[in-house]
Amino acid sequence: MKVLILYSSRDGQTHTIASYIAKQLSVAGTCEIQDLSQVGQIDLSQYQQVMIGASVRYGRFSPVLSQFVAGHIEQLNQMPSAFFAVNLTARKPEKRSPQTNAYVRKFLLSTPWQPSLCAVFAGALRYPRYRWIDRVMIQLIMRMTGGETDTSKEVEYTDWQQVDRFTQDFTALQCEK
Ligand SMILES: Cc1cc2nc3c(=O)[nH]c(=O)nc-3n(C[C@H](O)[C@H](O)[C@H](O)COP(=O)(O)O)c2cc1C
Repeated sequence: MKVLILYSSRDGQTHTIASYIAKQLSVAGTCEIQDLSQVGQIDLSQYQQVMIGASVRYGRFSPVLSQFVAGHIEQLNQMPSAFFAVNLTARKPEKRSPQTNAYVRKFLLSTPWQPSLCAVFAGALRYPRYRWIDRVMIQLIMRMTGGETDTSKEVEYTDWQQVDRFTQDFTALQCEK
């Protein structure tokens, strides 16, 4: 089985999650991983399954996500596919599903893509790595939403067991088709 994982990541957490999934999937077959912003036009018919992961920044996914989907919509909807989103709102368990995470709900309503599987993962908060303005903005959002406000901290909220379950469900898609 040949699988493609594409990721859109600004600060690295979505890349880390995509690489983790790729490592698990490589045990069963070939798994390629590529940066969505670098991939351009690609023939998806050489893969049996595709997964796309993207992070949220200031309320939006990178435009490369919608651009890729628009350019590959027919193939995407014809093969087993999965989407996962990464954001900090999902650090709250009640905001960690496609139905309850506003960014994902909005994306799924606006896109012609109908992924077979969809998940929302909590990302990471890495204050020391942010630009000054981003650090101030994120601290403000965290203060308003009851999150971590100590700007010396780095916190990873990703639930790796949730990622494992998603990976297993993704593997099972092949059997369903
Ligand atoms: C500048 C900035 C803006 C962000 N905006 C949002 C946001 O609007 N909503 C949210 O839930 N998380 C937001 N986050 C949190 C990121 O989604 C989270 O840190 C995620 O792990 C980033 O993934 P990446 O490392 O793959 O880029 C923001 C983070 C930064 C640094």
